[in-house]
Parts: sequence; C-alpha cells; structure tokens
Amino acid sequence: MRTTEDADRASESLLRPTTTSSSRVCRWRRVGGGLGALVVLFGAGAALAAAFGARDGDNVAAALAFDKSAPTTTTGDSHVNIRDEWGPGPLHEVHWDAKTGFHYDAHDGSSFEKFEEKLGARMIQSTVMKYYPTRLKSDQPSFSVYYTVEDYPKTKCWKSARTGLAPEGCHTDQWPRVYNFASQPKDASLLPALDQVTLITIAEPLVDMLEHEGEDAKLEPPNWPKQQVFGMNGENATAWENLIPKIAWQGTDYRFYGPEFDGFKEDSCHHPNDCVLNQIWQRAGGGHGKANYTLAMRETLARNDITPRLRLVLNSLLDNSWIDAKFFCVARYDSRFPLRVKLGKELRVEADRKMTGDDLAKYRYHIDLGGAGGTTWTGTIHKMSLPGVLFHHETAMRDSYFDSIKPWVHYIPVAEDLRDLRQKFDWAQANPQKCKQISAAASAWVKAFNTRRALLRHNYNTLAVNLAKTIDPSKKHLVPFEKAHPSAMLGRMRQRILNGLRRAARARAAAQ
Ligand SMILES: *[C@@H]1O[C@H](CO)[C@@H](O)[C@H](O)[C@H]1NC(C)=O
Ligand SMILES: *[C@@H]1O[C@H](CO)[C@@H](O)[C@H](O)[C@H]1NC(C)=O
Repeated sequence: MRTTEDADRASESLLRPTTTSSSRVCRWRRVGGGLGALVVLFGAGAALAAAFGARDGDNVAAALAFDKSAPTTTTGDSHVNIRDEWGPGPLHEVHWDAKTGFHYDAHDGSSFEKFEEKLGARMIQSTVMKYYPTRLKSDQPSFSVYYTVEDYPKTKCWKSARTGLAPEGCHTDQWPRVYNFASQPKDASLLPALDQVTLITIAEPLVDMLEHEGEDAKLEPPNWPKQQVFGMNGENATAWENLIPKIAWQGTDYRFYGPEFDGFKEDSCHHPNDCVLNQIWQRAGGGHGKANYTLAMRETLARNDITPRLRLVLNSLLDNSWIDAKFFCVARYDSRFPLRVKLGKELRVEADRKMTGDDLAKYRYHIDLGGAGGTTWTGTIHKMSLPGVLFHHETAMRDSYFDSIKPWVHYIPVAEDLRDLRQKFDWAQANPQKCKQISAAASAWVKAFNTRRALLRHNYNTLAVNLAKTIDPSKKHLVPFEKAHPSAMLGRMRQRILNGLRRAARARAAAQ
C-alpha cells in the first residue's frame, strides 16, 4: 500500500511535515483551508451528495453517493474480470446508472490515499457531467469507469507485459480501459489498457472549475489550494548572475520505481539488515572516535543499486561546491526508523530544516529526482517556474503533461543514474545565455499552462476525450471543448472581427 507515498509527495511541498521535538518523526498533514475543507467534505458521503445535489439541481447525476456498496461490474463484452487480475494495488471504480446516479467504490487507506482516490472519482464525475450531459439522461445505459491514482498503476501484470510471457490471470489485452491519474511507463505498449489522464496533483482546481459554471476557461490562474505545484508566476525573479551556482535539491529518502520494474531501487535504509547508510557507517568505523566517511561514500557511489536521490546526496556531501542536496524526512515509521534517524544525523544526509520555495528560488540549478512513480508529482512544474534552470530527471516513466515539455527547450535532460550530471552542470556553467533562455521558456510554459483554460483543455484532451472509449464508443455525446467553454471562443471571434476591421482599415488607408 502507499503509506510511504505521503512522505514522498510531501517532500515537494504538497504536504507539510511537522517535526516532533523528541525525534525526527515526520508526520504529514495537509496545508491550507482548501484541502482541509475538501477532506472534511469528503468525510461524509451524505454531506458530499447534498453539496453536489444543491449545486446541480435537477440533473439526474446529482444523485451522487460515495459509498462502499457500489456494485462492481465489468464493462465491455470481455469475460475477463479485471478486478480479479489487477492487484496487488487497488483498482478504483466509478459507477453510474440512471436510477441512482454516480457511485464510488471507496477503499480503506490513509487519509492521503482516500483524498486522492475521491478526487479521482470527482474528476471522472465532473468531467462526464460537463462534457457528456446527454449520456446522463434517464434512458441511457449504466457504465463503470476504472481508474488508478497510486504512484503508478500497481498491478502484478506489469511483469508479464514486460517479458511478453502471459502468466495465469493477466489477460491485459482484454481489460477494459483504466484511467490513470498517476505516473506510468513512457512505453505505452506495455499496458495498452491504460489511458494516462490529468495528473492528480493538478486535479483539485479542475474539479472546482468543472463544477462551477460561469467561471470557466479564463486565461488566468485558478485558485491553487496552497499546493505550490505551480510555484512562481514570474514574481521576484532574481537575476541569473545572482543565483547560487549550485544544484539544489531536498526531498524524501524514498524508493525509486516500484518492484515491478527494472531499475527498482530501495531507499537508503530499507531494513536494519539492508541499510546502505549503515553499511557506510560501519565501513568507516562509525561510533569509534572521529569517523571519516569519505572513502565509504565513494565506494557506495560505485554501486549501481542506490537510488538517484541517495546518489545526489552523497555527491553533495563529498563535494558541495556544485551540489546542495539533502534528504528531508524519511518515508516510513517502521522498525528501521530509529536507525535511519540516527544515521541521518551522523552521516549528515538529513537536513535540519526544510527548504522553502524561497530558499530554492535562490539557486541557479534544480533537479526533479523521481520517486516510486519514477517522477515527482509536484517538483517538475514548480522547479520550471523558478528563476534557475531545471535538470530534468529522464526516467522510464512519465506524467500526463510530459509531451508538452521538451529537452533543451524547457529543461536540460539528465540520465536516470545521473552519470552525466557533472557534464551537464559544466555545460550549463559554460553556457549561461542558453540556460537563461531555457529557464525563461520553462517559466513561460508554466505561466501558459497555469491558466484555467489551459488546465481545462489538458483535462479535456486526456480525460474527457479518452472517456469516450468507455462511456461513448460511438462518440455521440461528447461536447466539443469550444462549445463547453465558449467564453474564450467568443473572445477569439471578437478578436477575429477586430483584426478583420483593422485589416480593412489598413487596406483602406493603403488604397488612399
Ligand atoms: C515576492 O516578494 C514579496 C516581498 O518580499 C513577498 O511578499 C512574496 O511572497 C514573494 N512572492 C513569491 C512568489 O515568492
Ligand atoms: C577522509 O578521507 C579522505 C579519503 O580517504 C581523505 O582525503 C580526507 O583527507 C580525510 N578527511 C579527514 C578530515 O581526515
């Protein structure tokens, strides 16, 4: 399950850790009234249904109830039941029928997991209501939509997909569509049933926009519930020359990829008997006088089974003239925890204080190291928005908007195992003009993406369009984006008319 993930996401400021005075036990809680209010709202199905009902009046879909009694059905003609095959991670489902409206099949889990699971359900519901209104009429057949929001879709069937062997119980070619709000492999052929849709960390304001008429699709940023996913919008940018010429990073000591994938690496202290930090400590004779960890850290860097995050932190400890990187908070509170806390202090891999966005913004170089999903859900966009330039961690995984950001245009690519990081750093130091250009293009990308209209369009192109495969195969019901969000279209028509008038005026002037 994904209790660990709370910490991972928290590392890049979706959640804020609080530190107890006695030990470095990190607890996670949400920041800001918006998220808090939503959690409370989600807390009671009845309250939520009431809230939706009040908003959506006579729409039959307003009969929403988030409950555990939702029927589980398979869709399509297949005899394969995806629920039997999917595990071990959860597969979520939103069900609709004309009589009772939307239902959502809730799982048990941490509040963070529940929050994202319900956010995914709301995304599907509000997207269908907005763009498929005629599909929700009383004479329409019921449907089920499967979705995932975990770090990456957690199914045992990745292995068979990767090896080409088909173990018992993985008829992935017969699965119904699964809408994935999380990270997934760049190689889409591995699990063709997946449709990658709007990354869950940018979903919250979208639900709000989809559910509130009248405010939609303006070319201005939505209200972000203090997640800082988008970071700066051009304010307070320090001049390039004044930025600290180092690579800054702070984040959670967390595994890289899931165990289903090649390249999976456990965190730096996975188990008391399998703890890389402890091996460094012992190798250097830790606890016996003034230990010197340099040699042991160098030896550790020669291993290929350590996470990119640990690699960066160790490199920073060995030479902080170009990297400023530390862990902040470990991911779990299990038996290894006291050992990890002690070693974090002793080896100085753990930061005393969490870097704020303002701290980060002072640096010239950033890196968005992936965690269990192979990406960071809140780091990439945020770091592209900063005055410095992003070294983007190129992994086998992608998030929903990755097609629209390009190497050497919006970021400087860095290999999965960071083998070229020093070379890329030297290049960047030697090419400040090019870096400034890349940083400016990245900030411009963020500014353009961080508008209500751009986010709605992203959700339309990923979630709304792909939902047709499940609920509207003959494409009779899907409302065109421009029709659903006419405000900007009218704006453009007005602009075209104005441009036409201007051209006519110029033509007249030229003719005279
Ligand atoms: C910009 O600086 C002002 C004044 O120091 C501060 O109040 C504001 O929060 C800063 N904005 C950002 C995005 O850092
Ligand atoms: C620690 O060890 C490294 C390599 O063995 C050596 O270069 C360095 O001088 C040592 N540092 C101290 C403080 O003794």
